[in-house]
Amino acid sequence: MSKKYKIAVIKGDGIGPEIVDEAIKVLDALASVCDFDFKYDELLMGGNAYDITGDPLPQETIDGCLEADAVLFGAIGGEKWDSLSKEKRPESGLLRLRKELDLYANYRPIKVYDELIDASSLKKEVVEGVDLLVMRELTGGIYFGEPRAVEENRAYNTMVYTKTEIKRIAKEAFEAAMKRGKKVCSVDKANVLEVSGFWREIVEEVAKDYPEVSLTHMYIDNAAMQLVRDPKQFDVILTGNIFGDILSDEASMLSGSIGLLPSASVGGKVGLYEPIHGSAPDIAGQGIANPIATIASASMMLRFAFGEIEAADKIQSAIEQVLKEGYRTKDIADYGAKEICSTTELGSYIAEYVSKSK
Ligand code: IPM
Ligand code: MN
Repeated sequence: MSKKYKIAVIKGDGIGPEIVDEAIKVLDALASVCDFDFKYDELLMGGNAYDITGDPLPQETIDGCLEADAVLFGAIGGEKWDSLSKEKRPESGLLRLRKELDLYANYRPIKVYDELIDASSLKKEVVEGVDLLVMRELTGGIYFGEPRAVEENRAYNTMVYTKTEIKRIAKEAFEAAMKRGKKVCSVDKANVLEVSGFWREIVEEVAKDYPEVSLTHMYIDNAAMQLVRDPKQFDVILTGNIFGDILSDEASMLSGSIGLLPSASVGGKVGLYEPIHGSAPDIAGQGIANPIATIASASMMLRFAFGEIEAADKIQSAIEQVLKEGYRTKDIADYGAKEICSTTELGSYIAEYVSKSK
């Protein structure tokens, strides 16, 4: 009997549909090797959802996600919708979905593929062997804090964290560290912000339950610098919503292309799996987007949401194999390409390696 999994699929805007199609191609290849029965339920979110329904996050999408075992998501946004009011913009669809699904823990693993070591703008010796995890709090902090407003002569947001919010994300980071290098570096701005001082206190409290994990604290400005000076010092970086947003973009460059990195957002009943990059409207429709980040996100989905570790590894090794063989999309074509591939060609190669895996 094949195992059944229901996947909510949100393709989104820009390159979203192209890259998600490749992830589905790879999942279909996997289904035949592993005897899985994937049922896809396509849902709207972002600018396309706004164009069709007037809402970047229609209720039907929230309901569809809640009925699924996991959500696979591409990317949203684009200039076309930039002048809309905040709640109509594509981004607010994603932010609301994170909140609705209670996805407070955002895993952004940064791994450097040896084959692409020269693609990084940093020196080889600095990035070789980097393997770190940014654990970003995703449903609190300044992104969601109240009060917030634009007035005639000023505008403001509020950075607020409750004890409960800090505790649960800290726990997530320590648990993750236990399965990795047993180091947590909590990043904040405790020399200036009250909310950061409080964050530190709670993180220290949670750390007592994990005596095997070593905990350090770092200010965000220093962390931004250390990340490019010596990224290998980090194992798990635990941080709040906005600092995590910035640090994860920065960290992505260690790997050479933002088109390579996946993410998982979990905490609630249903997790969401998406590439960390955006919708890249400038290259949408050209068939040149790198699908690897989305395919790797599908691998994270198998691991986290379905507990299908072997299957997840099959996808990950197919990605590595394809890179080893010299197949590259345009973004990384300068680094060891034997063949420059379109989005669909690269997806097909990965799917092929998955089909051949035992
Ligand atoms: C991300 C993105 C989002 C964020 C935007 C699109 C709202 O940059 O997932 O990192 O800021 O969280
Ligand atoms: Mn971001």
